[in-house]
Amino acid sequence: MEPLAQVDPEIAQFIRAESRRQHDKIRLIASENYVSHAVLEATGSVLTNKYSEGYAGKRYYEGQQYVDKVEALCIARAKALFGAEHVNVQPYSGSPANQAVYVALIKPGDTIMGLSLAHGGHLTHGDAVSISGMHYKAVQYGVRQDTGEIDYEEVERLAKEHRPRLLICGHSAYPRILDFERFAAIGRQVGALVMADIAHIAGLVVAGVHPSPFPHVDVVTTTTHKSLRGPRGGMILCRAQYAEAIDKAVFPGLQGGPHNHTTAAIAVALKEAATEEFRRYATRIVENAVVLAAALERRGFRVLTGGTQNHLVVVDATSMGVTGRQLAKAMDAAGLVCNFNRIPFDTQPALHPSGVRLGTPATTSRGFGPEQMELIAAWMSQVAKVRADGGQDLEARKQAYREIAGQVKAVCDGFPAPGLLYGPKGRPA
Ligand SMILES: Cc1ncc(COP(=O)(O)O)c(C=O)c1O
Repeated sequence: MEPLAQVDPEIAQFIRAESRRQHDKIRLIASENYVSHAVLEATGSVLTNKYSEGYAGKRYYEGQQYVDKVEALCIARAKALFGAEHVNVQPYSGSPANQAVYVALIKPGDTIMGLSLAHGGHLTHGDAVSISGMHYKAVQYGVRQDTGEIDYEEVERLAKEHRPRLLICGHSAYPRILDFERFAAIGRQVGALVMADIAHIAGLVVAGVHPSPFPHVDVVTTTTHKSLRGPRGGMILCRAQYAEAIDKAVFPGLQGGPHNHTTAAIAVALKEAATEEFRRYATRIVENAVVLAAALERRGFRVLTGGTQNHLVVVDATSMGVTGRQLAKAMDAAGLVCNFNRIPFDTQPALHPSGVRLGTPATTSRGFGPEQMELIAAWMSQVAKVRADGGQDLEARKQAYREIAGQVKAVCDGFPAPGLLYGPKGRPA
């Protein structure tokens, strides 16, 4: 029963340092969050010791008395929360969940249609460098240049032209509500199955802050670790008629033993997500994003689509005279962590794109509200100006970032995040 710090001080030290980093900095990466102590405890539990290939009641190993119960409870909670007929909670993460849908419902060489990566889609929706773009004939739709919003007429036109077997909706960087009903209608017109990947917005969907893809689409995939605030994992939710094909595709089609500790932690997160408190949390995520987008616009940033309706704010950094990469790196030095991102119709190369992507799930988890969103916008504007106008004096720029990082930390100390080793005022809990 030696503690980690004795068995492996190096790893223990890295974990403590990471915990410190997660406390001291403002985490604006749209796909990240802070899980609760309860979710962390389940993730770090002895369930990691157990092999359970198969499904409850049909396993290939003995000793499933408790694992079967855990998985059944997780499935029951997911069904109730999302209103799904069938749920598979075994995918190791979001990408394998999407791959499992392709294995279950279509054949290599079939046509799939998804939102392009450059316009806010995900790699696994048919991008050329992903297996989804290599093994399937991928047609990609985009957003309108004038509004930045999905061009449903173009989706319909492309669907009629290419007649995909599978039409995919969902995104990693699109700040507007998705019209699942419209996607489903287009799918029906051309005889395509429709998959919604709600990885980013699952927490908003269960809280009723974003419309649900049910009952419109055939199959839904999600990660469990973004706005849903669970452990890293994936789920597939579908109509009963696809249950057998989906289950077979996950195991034995793609995976071996499920990660039971993750299943337990997903179950805990789903219980938390069913509460009134979570509904308020998800509402605040969107309120914060709206305030952040408006505050950035007031300070001269071009915000894509002119604002947001979800947890995401996509910003054109070139409107402040810097590239997305320059801004993201400078922000990190100033204690504001985000990622650089291509924006639709980007003229800059992929490694030096024009945009940065921001999200509010993590900051909202630690209790930030509109006041802190205004501060973030002000700091971002300062950082962008220092990076753009700071001349060649690297040391002076670094000093300016350090000063902002100090102010960021002072604010963070007043908002201890769930699950971290640090308590009020940033002291070890
Ligand atoms: C829409 C969407 N789908 C799938 C994934 C893949 O999830 P994972 O990174 O867990 O494989 C992501 C991750 O960012 C995503 O944004």
